[in-house]
Amino acid sequence: MTAQLIDGVALARHWRQRVAERAAALAARGHRPGLAVILVGDDPASQVYVRNKVKACGEAGIHSLLETYPATLTEDELLARIAALNADPAIHGILVQLPLPAHLNAQRVIEAIAPEKDVDGFHVANAGALLVGQPAFRPCTPYGCMKMLEHIGRTDLRGQHAIVVGRSNIVGKPMALLLLQAGATVTICHSGTADLAHHTRQADVLVAAVGKPRMIGADMVKPGAVVLDVGINRLPDGKLCGDVDFDAVREVAGWITPVPGGVGPMTIAMLLLNTVEAAQRTVGRPPSAVGASATVRP
Ligand code: GUN
Repeated sequence: MTAQLIDGVALARHWRQRVAERAAALAARGHRPGLAVILVGDDPASQVYVRNKVKACGEAGIHSLLETYPATLTEDELLARIAALNADPAIHGILVQLPLPAHLNAQRVIEAIAPEKDVDGFHVANAGALLVGQPAFRPCTPYGCMKMLEHIGRTDLRGQHAIVVGRSNIVGKPMALLLLQAGATVTICHSGTADLAHHTRQADVLVAAVGKPRMIGADMVKPGAVVLDVGINRLPDGKLCGDVDFDAVREVAGWITPVPGGVGPMTIAMLLLNTVEAAQRTVGRPPSAVGASATVRP
């Protein structure tokens, strides 16, 4: 069996178009959505991610404000900038790119962002809302993965076993909660898990988010499984690859995301979606959309 490809580029284009329509409608009412992106330090991968996010904002008609600071920025200085952005009515979303330099306490910085502007969904209030099954902002990468599952018709995951490899606050934990909300039986595996392959082979839906190039091999995947690869790893030759051994696993899986061109573009599209949603919440919805607003689901 050769797996069907889930094309993250095409699906992200679809969502970015929908975001652009909503942004234009808000702008027409005098409320152009705005996103502030803060980058501290000179991590090359973060610089690329941030540049892509800002570019995507422009294409969707979202105002973006990029603030870059040297790694010497103090925590007080960063907290002061966040306070100013919290108070800025032109800014609806605030994103602090992670990882931060080691002298900055990432959780303290995230908690300084107003929860209603936390379009990453990392603030403890948003993480808690997700935990109790009432998500306000879903973290962008897991959100993108759920949209991919929806796209292939896997909305109701009751009776399915989902395995998430990785337990980060950014991907692994929120991913597990969203899968749980969709009805899946969920297992989170991590570096302390014994016999990882034993677990991954049970997965109807397998999400790899570990940051280890090609660590999920064909012998670790159940035939016909949906495999979502969150990893973006740079190989010594400069090429990108995921956490999944794509060429081998595609012969076993039912569906698979490529790297690049899979989950990555969806992460950015969901950031835009959360930003336009944040803006919409500050101004309310037009009368024609009131019926749709009851669920607050875009
Ligand atoms: N670093 C890696 N992924 C992310 C993300 O989704 N948001 C932020 N802010 N930083 C990240």
